Amino acid sequence: MKVALFSSQKYERAFFTEAANAYPHIEITHLEHALKMETVYLASGFDAICVFVNDDVNACVLAELAELNVKFIALRCAGFNNVDIDAAHALGIQVVRVPAYSPEAVAEHCMALILTLARKTHKAYNRVREENFDLNGLLGFNIHNKTVGVIGCGKIGQSLVSILNGFGAHTLVFDPNVGEGSYTKVSLQMLFEQSDIITLHCPLTESTHHLLDDAAFQKMKTGVMVINTSRGALIDTQACIKALKSRKIGYLGLDVYEQESELFFKDRSEDIIQDDDFIRLSGFPNVLITGHQGFFTKEALTEIASITISNLNALDCGQVSPNSV
Ligand code: NAI
Repeated sequence: MKVALFSSQKYERAFFTEAANAYPHIEITHLEHALKMETVYLASGFDAICVFVNDDVNACVLAELAELNVKFIALRCAGFNNVDIDAAHALGIQVVRVPAYSPEAVAEHCMALILTLARKTHKAYNRVREENFDLNGLLGFNIHNKTVGVIGCGKIGQSLVSILNGFGAHTLVFDPNVGEGSYTKVSLQMLFEQSDIITLHCPLTESTHHLLDDAAFQKMKTGVMVINTSRGALIDTQACIKALKSRKIGYLGLDVYEQESELFFKDRSEDIIQDDDFIRLSGFPNVLITGHQGFFTKEALTEIASITISNLNALDCGQVSPNSV
């Protein structure tokens, strides 16, 4: 089985080489290009492609992949909003993903964003490096006794709830598909109104697109902390900028961004960034952005590579993969 791995990054190659050792019939070629209409021709001669979060696997790309006789798509991530699944099925292309590799990796990163913003450790780090030990401007707040609203309580949401419970926070959960747990289930309206911190852990779908918009921000407490480690388009960027300018949002932590596919996973330090919204966001003193690194731990990468290779092996052997989408 010949596999073209798109959007390949140096950091993941050793993990895939190690995972593929036990499957000599799977041959992986690493391609640095992201998959899109302009690059789909690179899949010529391959049986399968392996893609990541910002590869664009839309209906036109899929039609071209089918023309090139590509039969399988292995997502090396959990979310699959970037693949037109119906179109893939109609073309007879099978799609697999890595539904869970380390929910704790993302939940812990989310907690890191919350704590950094709450205690301003990113600012303290810079001050102390310049021998500035002034505490003015670094006043923080406790997580203990705060109300944290968790939207989407699947694997990552559950892991975060455990962490938050350890901190002595009150956790409110909005998720239409979960039962009772070590949290209080509430309506979305109530979560917006009562939470000091709101964090997103639901998938991006048509119904969750711009879940946090003008109307949602209006309902929140003034000075609320908003965290998004899920998918960028859950937040309406324009509405978010407006809410930051009016101080409705007091703290914003993002690991994902609506237009991240044009920015993330590359060194842009010598570029002139054309995305004015991103520059506006990163210019606020109370905004902390990381470049989609929630998943980025040794444990998670080991799991991602190993599950992706075993998914590909199952497809190659004609088995129905439990990780089919
Ligand atoms: P999951 O499938 O275990 O949980 C998602 C939960 O969201 C489910 O319980 C579902 O019922 C709930 N949900 C669906 N629609 C909802 C809605 N409208 N309102 C509230 N809840 C809703 O998924 P998991 O593993 O917890 O991942 C969550 C998301 O995290 C993924 O979809 C992905 O976008 C993102 N993610 C981000 C990573 C990063 O590196 N920043 C890495 C991995 C995942």
